[in-house]
Formats: sequence, C-alpha cells, structure tokens
Amino acid sequence: MRNFIIDTDTASDDAAALVMALRQPDIAVKAITVVAGNVPLSQALQNALYTVELCAADAPVYAGCAKPLLRELETAQDVHGRDGMGDIGLPLQGREPADGHAADMLRELINANSGDITLVTLGPLTNVALALLREPEMARSVSHCYIMGGIGSGHGNVTPTAEFNIWVDPEAAKIVFESGMAMTMVGWDISWKYATFDAKQAEEIRRIGSPLAEFVIDIQATLTEFSMTENALAGFDLPDPITMAAAIDPSVAEYKDYWVDVTTGEGLARGITVVDVLGVSRKAPQMRVATSADRSAFVDMLKRSVS
Ligand code: RIB
Ligand code: CA
Repeated sequence: MRNFIIDTDTASDDAAALVMALRQPDIAVKAITVVAGNVPLSQALQNALYTVELCAADAPVYAGCAKPLLRELETAQDVHGRDGMGDIGLPLQGREPADGHAADMLRELINANSGDITLVTLGPLTNVALALLREPEMARSVSHCYIMGGIGSGHGNVTPTAEFNIWVDPEAAKIVFESGMAMTMVGWDISWKYATFDAKQAEEIRRIGSPLAEFVIDIQATLTEFSMTENALAGFDLPDPITMAAAIDPSVAEYKDYWVDVTTGEGLARGITVVDVLGVSRKAPQMRVATSADRSAFVDMLKRSVS
C-alpha cells in the first residue's frame, strides 16, 4: 500500500481525481486536506465529503485555509459552477469534516509517515505553504509531491501567462517551489493536450453505467460549457485527474528536470511558472516537469476507477 495525502480545492475535476485515488486498491488515502480555490472553502469541504461518501471510503477530510496567504480569494465558479460540481443539484451540504486544521494535519501525518507519503496537490498551495512555513523540515519527509499547477510550456488559463492554482496564491507556490521537497509539476498544458474529452469521449466513460461513471462525467457540465466557449477546447479537460494518474503511475507521463520559479507580481506578472529550459539561471533544477503524457493510459486508469 502507498500512503497518499491529497490537498484539493474540490470542484468537478478535483472530484474525479479523488475518485481515482480512493478507488485505487494499492493506495491508502491518509487524508484529504481542503483549501479555498475553485469555490469557497466551505463548499470545497462539502464537495470533498460528498465524494468520499460516494466512494464508500473512510479518508478523513480536514478544513484548511479559506483564502490565500496574502491575497483575497478569487474563485472559479464561472468555470466549475456555483457549487463547483456542475450545479446539477447534488446534495452538497450538511456533512462534517474531521477535527484539526489541514496545515496541522499535513505536518502531523507527514511526520508520522516520514519518507512514506506521496502528497498530491490539486488546488492553490496555501495549506502546503503554511505547513512548510511552520515546519520547513517537513519538506524532507515527503517522498514525492505531485503538483497540478503552472504551465510547463505554453499559455495560461486564468491570464495569458498563468494557470489558476498558482495564480490564486503565487506566494504560497513560491514557498513550496523553494522548499526542497521532491516535486513533479503537471502543468495545465498537459491537461489541454492529453486530458480533453469531447462529447463522444465523455459518453464512452459515462456508458460504463456505474454511479461513479455517471458522477465523474455529469459534474463536468459547467466545465464543458466554459471549456468549449472560453478555452476553445473540444470539450472539458481534466487537469487534476491526469495529475493524479501521474502520481498513481508516473510512467503515464514523460518529464524533464528544470529549475522553475514563480512570479508574485500583479497583472500578467502574477503567478507565472518560469521554467528555465536552457538552464541560463545556472540554478540546480528542483522540479520534474511533465512534458508529455499517454492519453490512452490515463483514460484507461480513469475508466478502471469508475468501473
Ligand atoms: O488550472 C486548473 C486547476 O485549477 C485545476 O486544479 C482546477 O480544479 C482548478 O483548481
Ligand atoms: Ca483543483
């Protein structure tokens, strides 16, 4: 069994990624730590709790930071729906998280399983940065951190230069990127190149017919609308699930090691992941960056998790 902790701003693609991990027989999800991002913290909490219940799993869910370290929260409810889950009327209220702040639980669980924890981050890095600020040596106890965030090469999704998770809390991202943790960055470029689903490809999964198969597709309703009209994609894309696929089986993607920095300015200078492709900074690479992925291997993993 491998121990996973998943930090998430639970909306429709996060939920599909949670299903993949919770349904993976050789993975023990030790905790789901929730952070504000796609939706306000309270909603992200309910979405995570609902998803755990739907998977008949027993992973504890902890509430974390309700806003970025220094900035005001900017949500993405236009992308994922007001409730973050496609506004399809799911009963996303009334469930209780476990006691304890996510940043404290991250430190506690990582220290208790030192050297045997895979941390997967699917949202802004506020919780992880706060944990590292309180205990910098935590970085050495994480076996590997898979980060859905940034852009390996290409354009942004929230501004022309930035990807949402990094843009929401760039100061937190910079702290994490400089922490010394063993890290892999799966940028939004990997999602829109290898994890986009048009109507036919979505139906292929939904047709599996299980409650989870219908769930992971139906909650993408708003994301589909947004992706096709705003991102000129052929359907919805699943950045968090393809990142989770890489965490479950790294051979799903290919990687290169680079030094990657984060800008903490305003406007177009906010939240850029600057990948030093040519090594001109002379700084030692600290990030394994996904450069391509095997779409069919990813889709097979997603299908298996909902079958
Ligand atoms: O930019 C895509 C990322 O932002 C995904 O994690 C999505 O869920 C949102 O959090
Ligand atoms: Ca997310």
